[in-house]
Amino acid sequence: MTTSPASQSNNPPENDAVFFTRLRRAGVGLRSSEFVLHQFTTPEIRDTESKWWDQFQAEKARLGSGMLDVLLGPRGRGKTTLACMLIGCCCWRGQRPIYTTAADMARQIRLGFDEKADQQSRFESADLLVIDEYNRVAETEWADITTQEIIDKRYSHLRDTLLVTNMTTDAFLRGFNTSIRSRISQCGKILLLDGEDFRTGGGK
Ligand SMILES: Nc1ncnc2c1ncn2[C@@H]1O[C@H](COP(=O)(O)OP(=O)(O)OP(=O)(O)O)[C@@H](O)[C@H]1O
Ligand SMILES: [Mg+2]
Repeated sequence: MTTSPASQSNNPPENDAVFFTRLRRAGVGLRSSEFVLHQFTTPEIRDTESKWWDQFQAEKARLGSGMLDVLLGPRGRGKTTLACMLIGCCCWRGQRPIYTTAADMARQIRLGFDEKADQQSRFESADLLVIDEYNRVAETEWADITTQEIIDKRYSHLRDTLLVTNMTTDAFLRGFNTSIRSRISQCGKILLLDGEDFRTGGGK
């Protein structure tokens, strides 16, 4: 059983409101921000015996290693929430992480087309970049190439990246660009979240 708290740091935020603001600025949605805030600030509600919690702790231990990890699993297994907990770890430490979806990242870069480099470098330089709904990345060739560029730059600079998708492991590996696949095999881990469906309270 893992009993360590959600995050340990010498430099925590002054209060809950500061932490919550950091989460929202990092792009975390309201539902996940509330969940993360409670996990970090209310120790008695933590379900420290769950597999999900152990997987979160294992992933947290990889932060700062320059990882390029993948979180896979069916709907409702807590993938987005676990990714947002990792964003929470960075926010707690005063770092600057970004949570986004593949579609939103492409949209933001496209909208700020004149300052494309600025938008792109924001995603390239974040301390942790979570790209959720990664299965939607290849909707256009332009979005696909831009995303690959961002991932490759982050890989070069040893910055942590987490891709999140509900594709199966096979489909993910088959559909994947070989250059990214090769990088994942070097410094990445594929983590499968296939426990209970938190939305319905049932299994698969
Ligand atoms: N460890 C947990 N304990 C209790 N509830 C959880 C946990 N993780 C997630 N949840 C809740 O379960 C619901 C689904 O979680 P989440 O959105 O993270 O799933 P997901 O795997 O990303 O699903 P999808 O594939 O549809 O995007 C949310 O309401 C979330 O608050
Ligand atoms: Mg999700």
